[in-house]
Amino acid sequence: MRDPLFTPLQAGALALPNRVVMAPMTRSRALDDGSVSAMTATYYAQRASAGLIITEGLFPEAMGKGYVRTPGLATDEQAASWARVTRAVHAAGGRIAAQLMHVGRISDPLFLPHGSTPVAPSAVRPQGSSYTDLGARPHITPRALERTEIKRIVNAYATATERALEAGFDAVELHAGSGYLPMQFLSSRTNHRLDEYGGDVLARSRFLLEVLDAMVAVADAGRVGLKLTPELPFNDIADDTPELTYTTLMREVAQRGIAFAEVVSTGPIDWHALLRPLFDGAYFLGGGQTRDSAVAHLQAGRADAVVFGQAFIANPDLPRRLLSGAPLASADRDTFYSPGPQGYVDYVAWSDAAALAAA
Ligand SMILES: Cc1cc2nc3c(=O)[nH]c(=O)nc-3n(C[C@H](O)[C@H](O)[C@H](O)COP(=O)(O)O)c2cc1C
Repeated sequence: MRDPLFTPLQAGALALPNRVVMAPMTRSRALDDGSVSAMTATYYAQRASAGLIITEGLFPEAMGKGYVRTPGLATDEQAASWARVTRAVHAAGGRIAAQLMHVGRISDPLFLPHGSTPVAPSAVRPQGSSYTDLGARPHITPRALERTEIKRIVNAYATATERALEAGFDAVELHAGSGYLPMQFLSSRTNHRLDEYGGDVLARSRFLLEVLDAMVAVADAGRVGLKLTPELPFNDIADDTPELTYTTLMREVAQRGIAFAEVVSTGPIDWHALLRPLFDGAYFLGGGQTRDSAVAHLQAGRADAVVFGQAFIANPDLPRRLLSGAPLASADRDTFYSPGPQGYVDYVAWSDAAALAAA
């Protein structure tokens, strides 16, 4: 019987040769101007055997940046630097999607133009800190966005999508998890707006859906994906009625016919059981997966593909290792976000010629 992880998958317009997807992961190796270097092209090309690579979060506008040395798609120069990455990945036989990530209130004036105050749906201060070159700085109270600014941010996502396609990306993914801007609008505790972007679940979904529609208008639904992390408390986010929020949202998303949804499930609720039946596109399941759990999810029909994060940091040839049963290296957390090549492009491939020949 064919290994379920190595059965091809059509996800919208994307033809994936296997179901081992590389998770979006911030690695803080970008230059000060938000562009990436040749080292980043090497890093992603090393991982081109993934069914699909999803990049680290890229800010669609300068106000969306929230971490040191993170890259963007907010300028033509930033996009040009990504063209080198997509060329390298394609030359190595891979496919790569750009993740658009606007952190909203999870930022610090040090990361923003002219030392601006971070923006959010409402002026609700998050617990926690930003890790800056000046050390950890507690988050400050964000400024609530004006309605006209919201339209401008939606347009920024559309423009970033255009730049992504021009840079040669195969798809774009909207990051609507991890307590960042779209999730800040979606979640009841961070959205106290009284206009059409706040209130009931549909109103709180409006920003996310407007952004998704803007991305679809540019890229076509077959090249758009969405990441959700229901109930993940990361970045001090919470919703009072998560089941209602995410089932309502998923029904709306399904009407858009997008290529894939990436869902990381945490908390007491079995989100995959709840959300997958509501979505017609390819369902990518992620978070703490192993070879055995991934195969079990695919065989049980709980997912169409499985997303691996940390395992892909330490194992650039992860699909081949999963196929051959080769041992997996573990990732060094100390170099997740450190500058330079160490812990980035120096993890080696497992040379298993026999397994390769048998594949
Ligand atoms: C170093 C690191 C950086 C991450 N950065 C992002 C990111 O930029 N965007 C995102 O959606 N998720 C990010 N994540 C979460 C991963 O995409 C993934 O959901 C998570 O690591 C769980 O998968 P795993 O257990 O296989 O690592 C990051 C995770 C790690 C370890």
